Amino acid sequence: MNLLTATMQLKWNESLAEFGFIASVIMFMLAIMRMSKVKTARSGNWLAAGAMALAVISQFVEEGQINPVFIIVGIVAGSAIGAYLAWRVQMTQMPEMVALLNGFGGLASMFVGLASYFQFIETGARGTLASLPAVGAFTGVNLMLTVIVGGLTFTGSVIAFLKLSEKIRGVPILLPARHAINVALGLLALGFSALAVWAVSNSVLGVLLLVLVGLLALAMGVTLVLAIGGGDMPVVISLLNSYSGIAGALAGFTIHSPVLIVSGSLVGASGIILTMIMCKAMNRSLANVMFGGFGAAETGEKKKDEYKNVKSCDVEEAALVLADAQSCIVVPGYGMAVAQAQHAVRELSDQLAKRGCTVRYAVHPVAGRMPGHMNVLLAEANVPYDQLFEMDAINSDFKNTDVAIVIGANDVVNPAAKDNKASPLYGMPVLNVEEARSVFVIKRSLGAGFAGVKNELFEKDNVRMLYADGRKACEDLIKALKEA
Ligand code: TAP
Repeated sequence: MNLLTATMQLKWNESLAEFGFIASVIMFMLAIMRMSKVKTARSGNWLAAGAMALAVISQFVEEGQINPVFIIVGIVAGSAIGAYLAWRVQMTQMPEMVALLNGFGGLASMFVGLASYFQFIETGARGTLASLPAVGAFTGVNLMLTVIVGGLTFTGSVIAFLKLSEKIRGVPILLPARHAINVALGLLALGFSALAVWAVSNSVLGVLLLVLVGLLALAMGVTLVLAIGGGDMPVVISLLNSYSGIAGALAGFTIHSPVLIVSGSLVGASGIILTMIMCKAMNRSLANVMFGGFGAAETGEKKKDEYKNVKSCDVEEAALVLADAQSCIVVPGYGMAVAQAQHAVRELSDQLAKRGCTVRYAVHPVAGRMPGHMNVLLAEANVPYDQLFEMDAINSDFKNTDVAIVIGANDVVNPAAKDNKASPLYGMPVLNVEEARSVFVIKRSLGAGFAGVKNELFEKDNVRMLYADGRKACEDLIKALKEA
């Protein structure tokens, strides 16, 4: 009777868990759909968090008898660290944080792969599993790919984090024969993986091979990302994001977790779509991103750029020109985020609109330090969506525009990307601000942008530099316009 009750309880738990998994998978899909629009992105985020919580609870229900202490301690500690970091992080440090999160996702998957291998060793030692056919080719391939993709995602993300936070140089670090090294590391990792699966019944040899595969994967992440220049980091971050999803999905296949397979695939697929969009925006090929060494023009040490004939102006001068403008395009960049100038920028636009000027915003796909960075800031300042234009939609309009205001943007308006084949930015589509009748560039100095290169825009005849903090300059411009 007791056995019957226990069996029924188990079946009931399994059915309940299945139901929870299906519901969380549906919630993940709806969350991704909501995240594709600015207006619904916030609720999408909540929905995804809810889906993850439901998946964890369902796993507990399915397991039934397990001792949850370790898991609960892990969840509480992880959540506390995550909440603390998210609370402290500045908006401008978000890409670094995303890089680390991708890395930890990869590391977690790698651990799942390693743990599954140890489980196989344990079962093998009991004589039930002995070799490749027993582990199963599918599971064996999945398991080792989980270790490889998870490992390279971890170290690749750590290098991306160090480059973004300028703890190591952003310029490409090119190892001699790096392509040969990468191919050799990849082939060795695959070869040792096959041997590790074959040797699962021999615990010493198996573990040795497994450790070698892990080390090779970790090394691959380093060599692939070191070779990529700081200016191309956005594409790398979205690719690593995709890798972390793929590693998660592979881990899901390894431990037969449908919810992990689906959520990992969603992250992997959306990451790769974002990577393709970013590649297009930066005129790079996906193959270059995946195999590294792009954006690798030998920029060497940052040398002090010499500028000739740069013209500057003060706030009053700029306000006089703006007061008569009929049309204006605002180009926000990373400096707007640093200065937290988005609210002041919107008020400046409102002031111009009151004077009969049509104001629009030109948003470059990699302006700032993360995908959608400018959109998020401008949405926070309640800039109407219909005033925001993507680069392709507005680039041909600069020539018919009275004034372009460039606020804290640098690389995304650098004409060298179009005309200077020697520039590391060459080939990246940029905003044609220099075609406007007058251009005001608001930044604090002639300092370089993220790519660390000279900006030939600053020397153009129709360009005036307004040296100031972005927010202060906008506030002063608003005051001057009110008085004009
Ligand atoms: P950047 O080229 O980085 O230029 C930003 C400019 O802002 C700097 O030249 C700086 O000049 C100015 N600035 C800094 N603080 C300021 C302040 N308080 N007030 C006014 N100006 C300030 O920015 P961008 O044009 O947006 O280009 C983005 C770059 O980052 C690209 O190279 C892109 O590839 C890279 N990147 C993008 C992403 C994503 S996904 N968007 C991720 C990683 C890297 P001063 O010091 O003279 O003021």
